[in-house]
Amino acid sequence: MKIAILGAGNVGGTLGKAFASAGHKVFFGVPNPEDEKNKKLIDLIGPNSSSAGSVSDAVQFAELVVLATPWNAARTALQSAGNLSDKVVVDCTNPLKEDMSGLVIGHTSSAAEQIAQWAVGAKVCKAFNQTGFQNMANPKFNSGNAVIFVCGDDFSSKKIVLQLAEQIGFESIDAGPLSVARLLEPLAMLWIHLAYKANMGTDFAFGILRR
Ligand SMILES: NC(=O)c1ccc[n+]([C@@H]2O[C@H](COP(=O)([O-])OP(=O)(O)OC[C@H]3O[C@@H](n4cnc5c(N)ncnc54)[C@H](OP(=O)(O)O)[C@@H]3O)[C@@H](O)[C@H]2O)c1
Repeated sequence: MKIAILGAGNVGGTLGKAFASAGHKVFFGVPNPEDEKNKKLIDLIGPNSSSAGSVSDAVQFAELVVLATPWNAARTALQSAGNLSDKVVVDCTNPLKEDMSGLVIGHTSSAAEQIAQWAVGAKVCKAFNQTGFQNMANPKFNSGNAVIFVCGDDFSSKKIVLQLAEQIGFESIDAGPLSVARLLEPLAMLWIHLAYKANMGTDFAFGILRR
């Protein structure tokens, strides 16, 4: 699949590597494609399966668009994207306060629902927001695979995202409609709290136990 990734930082870069390793072609849409850090990323992944350019070129290239910018850049990125009609947009953002002490949206809406309003015509799913980027590089633990919850209102898009998460090693769970992002974004906040405030570090992930 052709995948655009808006943002090539911790999350965008890590998911890009993982998607390319699973056989996909990735195109990073970034503000400064010629930056040394972006060139290094392309060299690392390999120029046959990755490239970098403007946000609009990335979106034009792709069937599926991953939004991996800081929350405060999400709207600008989507405005630069051009026509998103019928594209699957995977929202990985968390609407964090500047000091990471909490979320700026919640309870009665979510970042994902706001993004669905900005990304006119796109089929938005929320995914890859509930664990640290370190786990996106390797979701496998001795006790099983880390979980990624996926929510969205379009069933066939959600199926694609669920498969993508499985391909890179996660257990993926359909968590329901896009409004479930109201639960998944605070879940990310819990992971951040445990990792950085409760001193658990980043080497853990949420998983599912079944009887
Ligand atoms: N870090 C995590 O473990 C983690 C886990 C789950 C979810 N998240 C969420 O994922 C998102 C990204 O986090 P991150 O840690 O990957 O951030 P990051 O390392 O700071 O990377 C952000 C990327 O977005 C790019 N960017 C900034 N403005 C842009 C625009 N207008 N259009 C396109 N790209 C733009 C940046 O480019 P420049 O560097 O050139 O500015 C950079 O490549 C955040 O919303 C975060 O809350 C993070």
